[in-house]
Amino acid sequence: MRVDFSYLPQQFENSEEIFADLRKLVASCDFTLGPYVEHFEKKFAKYIGVRHAIGTNSGTDALILALKSLGVGPGDEVITVPNTFIATVGAIVDTGATPVFVDCNSQMQMDCDRVEAVITPKTKAILPVHWSGWPAEIDQIMQIAEHHGLQVVEDACPAAGATFRGRHCGTFGHVNAFSMHPLKLLNVWGDGGVVVTDDDDLAAFLRLYGNHGLKDRDHAEIWGVNKRLQPFQAIVGAHQLETLDRDLEKRRRVAARLDLSVQKFSDFIAVPPRSDGANGAYHMYMLRAQKRDELVDFLRSKDIDCKVHYPIPLHLQTAAKGLGYKRGDFPECEAQAGDVLSLPAHQFVTDEQIDYMVACISSFYYS
Ligand SMILES: Cc1ncc(COP(=O)(O)O)c(C=O)c1O
Repeated sequence: MRVDFSYLPQQFENSEEIFADLRKLVASCDFTLGPYVEHFEKKFAKYIGVRHAIGTNSGTDALILALKSLGVGPGDEVITVPNTFIATVGAIVDTGATPVFVDCNSQMQMDCDRVEAVITPKTKAILPVHWSGWPAEIDQIMQIAEHHGLQVVEDACPAAGATFRGRHCGTFGHVNAFSMHPLKLLNVWGDGGVVVTDDDDLAAFLRLYGNHGLKDRDHAEIWGVNKRLQPFQAIVGAHQLETLDRDLEKRRRVAARLDLSVQKFSDFIAVPPRSDGANGAYHMYMLRAQKRDELVDFLRSKDIDCKVHYPIPLHLQTAAKGLGYKRGDFPECEAQAGDVLSLPAHQFVTDEQIDYMVACISSFYYS
């Protein structure tokens, strides 16, 4: 039996409705912004529960736009975590600001108890990540930010559809970012992203700056750049939104069954604590496993396509050399980098595949 990590072939097996809209787009030749992008943006804003959603050409650009809209730039510090995808920190550095790391907790999310210790007069924003699509403790982060007069940008790139106490991740911070990269559940046949906010002025800036600073065809209000979402991708995204909740429910069911099934390996495998009120998007189904690297090799030899997200924390990357961190600075994150494992647990994984994965894990540890 095979268990693939990618779900894309099944997700797009029948894309006739998307192709029908794409034909209309091609007939219209309206290839920049326009009605399809507007339609997607309105639909996404409604789904998430925000006033403004602006399509971008990647989640990374959504993060950069978010930070820029809050005036983050050279001389500023932005607090984030070292256990995330490289783009979170790349976006901070791109604005000219300095990333400042805090360790993660056992849920693999920003450890709120450590945030205040790294706030300095230069701190401008906190950038929590809903890592793996699981909600960070965003209510506490908002409280800390408010207390210290800081802005919050949620990296909700992997978390479209995740909720915290009934409210969507990506609606708590001042300006927040989502990715629609092919490896995200809501994806658009290539790179794409969305930046969201409830603030009308910030939304106006985001639209202006991400579209060359142009107020209209002939008038530039500010110097800007091109970070627009493509209309054909907006079409794909609008269709994906129709099935997102259904697919999320399937992922949650797969995750719940896996959580239950791996309990019997508690001497070897730990499931991150699932806090009350958090409803994850399970962008990745991550566990902590003893003898992780051997287990990965074993599962792959059994055609189970598992992954490691990620073996090297960001503060130990070559790119981070100038930031002055060293091994030992973030013990929880470093320990997790040594034993995290992502199993294929997407919406098309069947009960038989779950049982097969569990049987293989059992035979790895017990035979
Ligand atoms: C946590 C996180 N932040 C940022 C990004 C960047 O998104 P993109 O690949 O769309 O630029 C991703 C995903 O790739 C991510 O998982």
